[in-house]
Amino acid sequence: MNSSYVLKETVRESAFESVWANDINDVFADVAPYYDRANFFATLGLIDRLRVRFVSTIDVRPKQKVLDVCAGTNAIGIGLLEKQPDLEVHAADRSAPMQEVGRTRAQRLGFNNIKSHICDVHRLPFPDNHFDVVTLQWATRHLRVIDVVSEIKRVLKPGGYFYHCDMLRPANKLVENIYCLYLTACVSTIARAFGSNEAAKKCRRYFVDAIRLFYSVEELSRLLTELGYSDVYGRSVLAGTVGFHKARKP
Ligand SMILES: C[S@@+](CC[C@H](N)C(=O)[O-])C[C@H]1O[C@@H](n2cnc3c(N)ncnc32)[C@H](O)[C@@H]1O
Repeated sequence: MNSSYVLKETVRESAFESVWANDINDVFADVAPYYDRANFFATLGLIDRLRVRFVSTIDVRPKQKVLDVCAGTNAIGIGLLEKQPDLEVHAADRSAPMQEVGRTRAQRLGFNNIKSHICDVHRLPFPDNHFDVVTLQWATRHLRVIDVVSEIKRVLKPGGYFYHCDMLRPANKLVENIYCLYLTACVSTIARAFGSNEAAKKCRRYFVDAIRLFYSVEELSRLLTELGYSDVYGRSVLAGTVGFHKARKP
């Protein structure tokens, strides 16, 4: 493993370990009932278009086993079942309140078969070589990337695909600065508009710092290759503020 990635992960972990261990779960417990509305509001509806675009890149066939990591309110599981109803979909997330909202949302749309696993995704409760497809959207900033992406590779079948989407650090410094200003304003406005709890207010700065210390599209592509994935394809969306990645387990 290239030492620059190990160093970056060490820096991220020492900067954020307290937030990851103590605050993030409280933030999502508070946010769960308004998570989807807040995202829609903060992105002026763009979030739904990005999700549709991301799901359109995911190739799923009947009977395949799919795992959505950090599934939250099941946006990806639902999107995949709408595309291909004959899937076995598993959702892994540490937040029971987020998964409860996701279960209700899925059932309202007639999908009663998303299997929920409440767990810390740094250790996935599945055997090796188990899934055809694993997805991870809007959450990697909150994780130890090398550990989780290696764990995803462990549970993927050989020839299976990992699809990733997250807010990334734009490679261009000017874009990064403008993006971080926008995020600061968004996080504060959402906290006021939706009456966020103390944990969410405390994390306002974290949400911006997590981007500043995160990976660009190119860096994440190289990291996936370093971790042993093949056919890695990274696409920059919205000037590198978002990245879509697809990678195959050899
Ligand atoms: C921003 S939400 C994204 C949810 C969903 N993937 C989506 O696209 O809307 C981040 C999710 O990651 C989950 N999460 C964060 N850290 C986690 C961890 N260590 N283990 C499991 N879930 C975690 C949170 O509970 C939350 O549901």
